[in-house]
Amino acid sequence: MLPNVLQPTATDHVPVLAEEVRASLAVAPGETVVDATFGAGGHASLLAADLHGSGKLIAIDRDPTARTYFERLAKHAQVNTRLLRGDFGVVLPQLAANGVRADAILLDLGVSSMQLDRPERGFSYATDAPLDMRMDPTQELSALEVVNEWPERELLTIFRRYGEERYAKQIARAIARRRREQLFERTGELVDTIKAAIPAPARFGDGHPAKRVFQALRIAVNDELGSLEAALPAALEMLRPGGRLAVISFHSLEDRIVKQFLRDRERGCTCPPDFPVCVCGKKPELRAIQRRPIRPGEAEVAANPRASSARLRAAVKAEEE
Ligand SMILES: C[S@@+](CC[C@H](N)C(=O)[O-])C[C@H]1O[C@@H](n2cnc3c(N)ncnc32)[C@H](O)[C@@H]1O
Repeated sequence: MLPNVLQPTATDHVPVLAEEVRASLAVAPGETVVDATFGAGGHASLLAADLHGSGKLIAIDRDPTARTYFERLAKHAQVNTRLLRGDFGVVLPQLAANGVRADAILLDLGVSSMQLDRPERGFSYATDAPLDMRMDPTQELSALEVVNEWPERELLTIFRRYGEERYAKQIARAIARRRREQLFERTGELVDTIKAAIPAPARFGDGHPAKRVFQALRIAVNDELGSLEAALPAALEMLRPGGRLAVISFHSLEDRIVKQFLRDRERGCTCPPDFPVCVCGKKPELRAIQRRPIRPGEAEVAANPRASSARLRAAVKAEEE
C-alpha cells in the first residue's frame, strides 16, 4: 500500500511489481537509494518509506513533469531527497565518476502513464496528436524529424530492429511515398499510413497495427537502448559491495540487454577449461537474486494491464575479497 499522500490519481502511473521490487532491493535504514526512473514516484515513495527516516533518496528522470511528483514526495519523505533531471545513461556515469555510492538502484524502464496518457506528448497511437515522443521535451530529435527526414532504409531498420515489425518494408516505403507529397505532422496521419500499408488481415491481428512502429520510433527518438547500455555498468560501479540493482523492462530488446549484462558480470574466470591456472583474473562482480525474471501475477495484470509485459531482474553486487 502506498503512503496516503502518494496514492495515485486516476491518471497517475501505477508502479508495477512494487512489492517484488521492494523485496529485491531490501532497503534498510541509513542507506542511499537511487531511483533512476522516478516518474510519478510510486516506487520511490515505497523505497523512501523503507528507509524509516534515515538515509537518502536520489531521483533521476529526463522528463521535467517528474518534478511535480518529486516535490510532493520530498515534502512528506522523512529522508534526504534530491532530483536530478537528465538521461540516466549520462547521469549515472557522472555520479559514478564523482564517487557517489548507493546501496540500491532501480531502473523501471520505458514510459510512464502520464506520458502515454497526455495526447500532446504524441506517444500514443490511440489518440491523434502532434508527432513528438520525446521524454525530454528540450531534446532536439523528435518523432516528427525521424518520420519526415530519416532515409527510408533507416526507417526500415528501426521498424525491424526496435519494433520487430513484420511489414517494416511496406510501412517504410509507404511513409517515404506519402512524405514526398505531404509531410507528416500528426500521429493520426502515421497510423492511417501504417494501416493502409499492411495487408488487411494484419490490421486486426496482434494488437493495434501501429503498436510496433510506435514502439520503434519511441526507442529511436529517446535512444532507449543506448541509455540502458550506458547506465548498467555505471549503476554497478556505484553500488557498494552487497548493494542491490533492480531493472524492470517492458520488451525483449531491453530485457536481452539486462540479461546479458547480468550474465556477463556474474561470470568469473573465462580462461579455457584446459588452462592450469587463471590468467584472465575475471571475478564475479554480482550475483543474480532470481534465476528467472519475475513476471506480474494475474491479479496485477487485471488491475493494471500495462504491467502485462513487465519483467524484473535483480542482482546483488559481490562483496570485495
Ligand atoms: C515506467 S516510468 C517509471 C515510473 C515510476 N517507477 C513510478 O513508480 O512512478 C519510466 C520513467 O523513466 C523515465 N525515463 C525513461 N528513460 C529514461 C532515461 N534514459 N533517463 C531518465 N529517465 C528516463 C521516463 O521519463 C518515465 O518518467
